Order: sequence, then C-alpha cells, then structure tokens
Amino acid sequence: MLELDTVRVNVGGFLVLRDVSFAIDAGAATVLVGRNGAGKTTTLRTLMGLLPLEGGTIRLDGRDIHRVPAHGRAALGMGYAPEDRRLIGDFNVEENLLLPAQAIGLNAAERRRRLEDVYSLLPELPGLRTRPGGSLSGGQGKMVALGRALMVGTSYVFLDEPFQGLAPALAKNYARALSRLRREKEDIGLLVTESSPQYVEEIVDHTLYIERGEVGERDTLQVE
Ligand SMILES: Nc1ncnc2c1ncn2[C@@H]1O[C@H](COP(=O)(O)OP(=O)(O)OP(=O)(O)O)[C@@H](O)[C@H]1O
Ligand SMILES: [Mg+2]
Repeated sequence: MLELDTVRVNVGGFLVLRDVSFAIDAGAATVLVGRNGAGKTTTLRTLMGLLPLEGGTIRLDGRDIHRVPAHGRAALGMGYAPEDRRLIGDFNVEENLLLPAQAIGLNAAERRRRLEDVYSLLPELPGLRTRPGGSLSGGQGKMVALGRALMVGTSYVFLDEPFQGLAPALAKNYARALSRLRREKEDIGLLVTESSPQYVEEIVDHTLYIERGEVGERDTLQVE
C-alpha cells in the first residue's frame, strides 16, 4: 500500500498540497479528478520524490519513504508518465524506454526482459522502436511514455492526464491499453489524474477529487 499522510507541499512559496491524505492499495486503480491548477501534477511529482514535503509523510508498505529521492523511488518500483511526456528527442523509442531501467541499475538481461514485456503489453510500440523520440505524434508519445513508466513501475504507476490532447480515437486506443494493463498486471497500483474521468471510469476502482490542494472522496470539494 502507498499512503500519503497529511502531506503538505509548497511550490514557489505557495502551499499547493494542504494536508493531503489518501492511500492506493497494491493492485488498485485510482483516478484523481481535478480542474486546472488543483494540484494533480504536484501530487504525482510529490509521490515520485520530485518535490520536498513541508509536512506529513509518504509510506510504502508501512515504510517511510518521504526522503527517498526520485531515482530511489523508481528503484522501489514506482513509474511516472508526466503529462508533457519528456521523451528525449535524439534518442530512439527503444533507447527512451530503456533509459530509466538503466538509471536504476538493472542488468542487461532484466532490461531486455522488461522491454519485451512492455512490447507485448503495448503492441503499438515495437513498430516505433527505431523512431527518434522527437518525431512521434502526440498519441504515439503518450504510449511511449506509458511504456517507459512500466519499465520501472512494477508496483505503482502514475499517469498525469494521459488523455489530455488526444483525439477521441487515440484516447480510446489508450484506454484499451490501460484495460489490458489492468488485466495482465493485476499487482500494479495505478494512479491516473484527469480533469474529466470519462475515459477511465471503466478501469478504476476508486475516484478521488482534488480541489485547491485538498483531496477528498467525493465531489463535495468542488465549488461550482
Ligand atoms: N513553479 C510554480 N510556481 C508557483 N506556483 C506553481 C508552480 N507550479 C505550479 N504552481 C501552482 O500550483 C498549483 C497546482 O499546480 P499543478 O500543476 O499541480 O495543478 P494541476 O492540477 O496539475 O493543473 P493542470 O490541470 O493545469 O495540469 C497551481 O495553482 C499552480 O499555479
Ligand atoms: Mg497538471
């Protein structure tokens, strides 16, 4: 189980997460719904160890990990697909996929095993393996970013607004990939952020809402 316990995070001198507490069970899928500026990206960056805590803590299976840096969290099996993908333009798709696995020190055989695993889960990717990261369409880039997160995210995977900017056909394609992930990797805990949960409703177990840095179970936080 991955738990945030009264987490407070400052960004640019502004308290962006205010005593955020929630948990993701191993193998469960949660969507975090919130509008622009609510704190979705900040929540994922915090989980990934990219932002320091002002207060509270983060536990993984009971162990306090809030001081574990980002590469250490990747080594604990946490994978992250940022909204803007951040693929390396000069590296081809396969090199982009392999990079985080190299960064956490997996040996060549294990990297290859995971790569083949990701290729079989996301059949869109093998055909792109030699394409430069910078030459991909938006939909292709999102799929590669998902694959890259899965290369290290063997326990938890965080996806930041994966459907943002995708045309409906591509969004459906991506939703199918997530369904396949849910079926074939039942142990992975998934946290997906969205401004509207329409594409993920079928695959998620829990819906959480975030509004002005506060996270709650129901839509009560939302002020129309
Ligand atoms: N570098 C920064 N300096 C100051 N404020 C920031 C900075 N980055 C983010 N913020 C503020 O923190 C709040 C939360 O931002 P965050 O990016 O987490 O929201 P979000 O829910 O991901 O929004 P979006 O849907 O637009 O991606 C916003 O009010 C934003 O303006
Ligand atoms: Mg965001």
